[in-house]
Amino acid sequence: MDLPHRMILKDGRLFTLDQGSGRSVHGEVIIISNGRSYREWAPWRSKLSALIKKTEMAFPGKSNILYLGAAQGTTVSHISDILEEGIIFAVEFSETAFRKLILLARERKNIVPILEDAFHPERFGMMVPPVDVLYQDVSQKEQLKLFLLNSRTFLKKGGLGILMLKSRSVDFTARPVDVYEEVSRGLRENGFKVETFIELDPFSVDHAAFVVRKI
Ligand SMILES: C[S@@+](CC[C@H](N)C(=O)[O-])C[C@H]1O[C@@H](n2cnc3c(N)ncnc32)[C@H](O)[C@@H]1O
Repeated sequence: MDLPHRMILKDGRLFTLDQGSGRSVHGEVIIISNGRSYREWAPWRSKLSALIKKTEMAFPGKSNILYLGAAQGTTVSHISDILEEGIIFAVEFSETAFRKLILLARERKNIVPILEDAFHPERFGMMVPPVDVLYQDVSQKEQLKLFLLNSRTFLKKGGLGILMLKSRSVDFTARPVDVYEEVSRGLRENGFKVETFIELDPFSVDHAAFVVRKI
């Protein structure tokens, strides 16, 4: 795997170079390599890690990112580690999760936490510039609608979109494959090229990742 310099693979496990306090953020293993502290980014804990593990995709190290569904910041913390330039605008509407997200943002320079409902970009638009990457991981029925709404508002032309889709949240009764097909069509009909589609099992069952480009 060709990794950016702030990531390493050790015994098949992925680690990111800690840019925080040196403490574990979400119970992850910390190792020291060449005198530097690295945090394990396990695919069981983060869908982005699962995507990178399965596809060897290189996550852009220099970009402004709008992240919808930040929760306590598990994945956000690893993106923060690998981001050499740019800011993560991390939107989360659960106050409980947000409390932890704020603590994480306090000890890192590249996270702006936003307590808002992602369905209302007009409420946080003044805080977010046009972005290079739109990342979405919300377990909601209207995941495609939310992604398109925010991409229209914030994602630059040519920008990268990563949509983590939970099929059972969209339609519990439908076959995941049918849900994925409908979402894929929706993305293509709304100005996106689907570059990669992959199911995230065994790490996240009934989840798939769409990596798309805004054309
Ligand atoms: C699966 S969790 C996200 C996990 C996180 N992305 C990670 O990898 O560390 C989904 C999160 O989306 C949040 N969420 C769901 N709908 C939302 C909305 N409309 N606006 C903001 N956050 C939302 C939930 O509160 C929850 O914390």
